[in-house]
Amino acid sequence: MKTNNNKNISLDKFINKALYDKKNGYYMRNNPFGEKGDFITAPNISILFSEIIAIWCIAFWENLGCPKKINIVELGAGNGEMMHQMTKVFKKFEKFLKASKFFIFEKSHFLKKIQKKKITSFNVSWINSLDNLKSGPNIFLANEFFDALPVKQFIKKNNKWFEKKVKVLSKNNFELVNEPTNINKFEKKIGINLKNNQKVIEFSPMAYKYLNTISKKINAFQGGLLIIDYGYFEEEMRNSLQSVRKHKFSNILESFGNSDITYNISFFFARKNLKKTKTKSSGYHYSKKIFNKTWHYSTCRNIV
Ligand SMILES: C[S@@+](CC[C@H](N)C(=O)[O-])C[C@H]1O[C@@H](n2cnc3c(N)ncnc32)[C@H](O)[C@@H]1O
Repeated sequence: MKTNNNKNISLDKFINKALYDKKNGYYMRNNPFGEKGDFITAPNISILFSEIIAIWCIAFWENLGCPKKINIVELGAGNGEMMHQMTKVFKKFEKFLKASKFFIFEKSHFLKKIQKKKITSFNVSWINSLDNLKSGPNIFLANEFFDALPVKQFIKKNNKWFEKKVKVLSKNNFELVNEPTNINKFEKKIGINLKNNQKVIEFSPMAYKYLNTISKKINAFQGGLLIIDYGYFEEEMRNSLQSVRKHKFSNILESFGNSDITYNISFFFARKNLKKTKTKSSGYHYSKKIFNKTWHYSTCRNIV
């Protein structure tokens, strides 16, 4: 990896390159799911998981009053297992099926090919932008999507804020450095207050952008968002950045492009953010033992 003018690069840019570089990015040339891969996700542990999500979608649609049209949108579909299993359930609910259109929002062309190969007997459209969804209601499903988005980190030391950046020592040799930063300027730019009593801030500009787009769609056309992810609900943010390779934790700076890099979602912040956009958020639930220790969190609008 190279940098312009030997400048240190922000963590989110580094992660973006490592995971989503068109040519060498981890998700752009790898099928990391399952025992032979690097990690396993809930849909690949049991089909029950996808079946429950499918039933949740149908119940949600019923709660909206069974509208004649509804979009089911999966964000980041991995190897396509969840949509594949959900479609088998949907086929048994004729009225819901007639009303529904199915979409997958996926960045990786490599994974898209795997998804298309798996989901053959069902009409699913692949979209490159959420702006392609021009009507609704929309039900967005995000299983381990948000934790896979690039994140920035800021830390406070002796009352001063620093942004964590990556120094490129040579092609595959990196070092983390703390660069002094004007956090007030950054907050002004993004229009939100991040630093309230925090010592560490993890903020994903991409996740923030998607959450805002989704909120707008939900507010305009009704619908909901189900987030199932690793995360926490406390107000205090954590340094939760991690890297996984062959089912073991690894160093985020090592095996560039060959390991998964994720962080834990601050559901407190996500919820605060949704409040700002006047999107109602409902229950959250922590499941420790079922399906991979994930947080289950849903947010919706206009549900009776
Ligand atoms: C950790 S995987 C989860 C896959 C699947 N949901 C599962 O649970 O098995 C993250 C998925 O999100 C996709 N992804 C990451 N960033 C994306 C983006 N900006 N837009 C669309 N898809 C993205 C990845 O390519 C991958 O398919």
